[in-house]
Amino acid sequence: MAITGKPIDRVDGRLKVTGTATYAAEFNQPNMAYAVPVRSTIAKGTITTFDTVAAEKSAGVIAVLTHKNASRLKAINPEEQMKAGVIFIGEDLVPLQDNQVHYFGQFIALVVAETYEQARSAAALLEVTYNKEKHAIDLVSELPKGYKPKLLFGREAQLNTGKTADLIAASPHKIEQTYTTSTENHHPMEPHATVAVWEGADKLTLYDATQGVVITRAIAAYFLNLKPDNVRVISPFVGGGFGTKGTWLHIVLAAMAGQVTKRPVKLVISRQMMQTNVGRRSATIQKIALSSDPKGKLTAIRHNSETYTNLTQFFEPSGLATAVLYEAPLREITYQVAKLNVGAPTFMRAPGEAPGTFALESAMDEMAFEMKIDPLAFRVLNHAATDPETKHPFSANYLLECYRVGAEKFGWSARKMQPRQTRNGKYLIGYGMATATYPAGRSSASARVQMTIKGEIKVMTAASDIGTGTYTVLAQTAADALGVSVERITVEIGDTNLPPAPIAGGSQTTASVHPAVLAAVETLRKDLMLLAFSDTKSKLNGRKADEIDFAKGKFYLKGDASISDSYADIMSRNNKQIMEACATSMPASGSGLGAPVAPCMVVPLATEENSDAKKYSFHSFGAQFAEVWVDEDLGTIRVSRFTSVQDVGRIMNEKTARSQIIGGVIFGLGAALMEETQYDKHWGNPVTRSLADYHVPVNADVPQIDVHFIGKPDPHISSIGARGIGEIGITGVSAAIANAVFNATGKRIRSLPLTLDKLL
Ligand code: MOS
Repeated sequence: MAITGKPIDRVDGRLKVTGTATYAAEFNQPNMAYAVPVRSTIAKGTITTFDTVAAEKSAGVIAVLTHKNASRLKAINPEEQMKAGVIFIGEDLVPLQDNQVHYFGQFIALVVAETYEQARSAAALLEVTYNKEKHAIDLVSELPKGYKPKLLFGREAQLNTGKTADLIAASPHKIEQTYTTSTENHHPMEPHATVAVWEGADKLTLYDATQGVVITRAIAAYFLNLKPDNVRVISPFVGGGFGTKGTWLHIVLAAMAGQVTKRPVKLVISRQMMQTNVGRRSATIQKIALSSDPKGKLTAIRHNSETYTNLTQFFEPSGLATAVLYEAPLREITYQVAKLNVGAPTFMRAPGEAPGTFALESAMDEMAFEMKIDPLAFRVLNHAATDPETKHPFSANYLLECYRVGAEKFGWSARKMQPRQTRNGKYLIGYGMATATYPAGRSSASARVQMTIKGEIKVMTAASDIGTGTYTVLAQTAADALGVSVERITVEIGDTNLPPAPIAGGSQTTASVHPAVLAAVETLRKDLMLLAFSDTKSKLNGRKADEIDFAKGKFYLKGDASISDSYADIMSRNNKQIMEACATSMPASGSGLGAPVAPCMVVPLATEENSDAKKYSFHSFGAQFAEVWVDEDLGTIRVSRFTSVQDVGRIMNEKTARSQIIGGVIFGLGAALMEETQYDKHWGNPVTRSLADYHVPVNADVPQIDVHFIGKPDPHISSIGARGIGEIGITGVSAAIANAVFNATGKRIRSLPLTLDKLL
């Protein structure tokens, strides 16, 4: 393994920094028209009239679509959708089918024009009247009318309801607190965009910014009543996803506009639409109660999470981490969900764990303080050696090592137990830490590998690189498995014409796709070697596989590298210009690592296929450490340094892995200190409309982030030993920062973001 793990530069880095990587909105077509959606200006009610005359007369306008003239699409039908692989659909609302308004900003019309500017200008001329109804926008007042969800990702949502009450009430050592987190919106650098091109009456190509071309194809085919084989989705580069680029049905709006205008149509989501139409992380109100014995061993954990949803089954699952962290004889996790007239919530980097670990890890800090135990020692004391909920052993778990390494690298021993002990001028300095965790998923995936006689190797799979490094690490895996340099490898991804791969979501691309690529490359290598063995002109004629090693594009005899045969010579003597192999890898039932199945299969991709989950609990773990400086006069908080230690299995590329964790920590820093979507209660619209008022961290907000990996392979996740790494980086970050603020100031803030008004 010469290259895997090495911090090599991104193979697509040059394309990106020179602006030559092509993103969805850049696939301009001849004769292309531009579509701009019109959004509702009420949060609930019905549309009574549309006056489209002025818009239609406006310069360059080709069509104005509303529910009155738009074609009828397939309706929402969860059972049928499931069968068709329609998963990770953003909201259960097919656009322009009726006059109902469910949230402020809902797409209610579409203007198509010769240019983007013309479409946008005409969109402003559309006159809409409504029959406005009273909308629900306030979480606290709507919660009593809400519901208790039965299922969460196919499992029981409510655990041990009501069981902890007496135990916690009777315990002399306990804390019981409420923590709140704000609604947040995803803001990848690249907003969603689609270019829809009809290649015939029933054949569609979509250039789309998506985390998964396979699911986007399934969704487009389903709602437009097309055969999936007749829909091609192309998405070679994606400028960030974070959960918002599942699939939202503006893709069918673009396709509908294409049908009406008989032209290719581009639809780009604006930054303001990112706040209303493509998901969010809902606000949460989390009540946590912990009780402990006199020695600091937890006796019960209760976590009740309240949140809101609309137009989807999804709700922010904040109790997920609570189910897996810490040993405690009794654990109660419950949910209450209200329905608000706000756009659909969706997956956002570590959905559940991100806000959930704020509450749980703040509560752990409070309990440790109550027990006069160092917060890190308190966590070690309550460490769960096996999964406390399922009782299964972890596939691998080096959390204790994360704590130890983190404490050492950060200098945790210098922390004072009592707050307000460390000061530099007007700044109070504090240390805080928290545990990170995220489950490790794996799905089936297929890959094809080709090698030419010139030694050019192509790796093909319909996976996505949403900025994560997929191109690079796949090239590393293939290079090592063939014993060639990484420059020889070209990776083709993001196209439904390639062998299917799962969505880049749930931190599962590496664990899912690499076993398939590895199996395909190994098949190719074996085919090539067998050609040499059976070739009387080969120096390796008659040899056996276990006598052979490979490097630098050659097979050679172990112990005598002079007895060798190069891939090029073997292919040349056998008149082969190109050789190819395919494989599918599946985390199949009871098969340990999951079996590679050759050749490439067009398998329906399920998200939770890993039946090894019945034998092992697959999770990543980490420890987050923050130092903050708090200005005592102004209440401003600056994170001055941050240490993150992660146990995520084998590291495929130290540089892209480190970037993932840094990105996660910055995401968490944003949630901790500034990110907050605020709604006007009267109109139901987000008043934080753009990045001018929805604040995300900029370089000046971000300190030195020190990242360390345990790096030990997970022997059960796959043949690769790597677990996903995209989401764990954010978990625990906001709690580590809030805990550091308490250590600095003595003030416990239980509400995110930690803005100065809450501190003063
Ligand atoms: Mo991630 S929130 O599963 O894209």
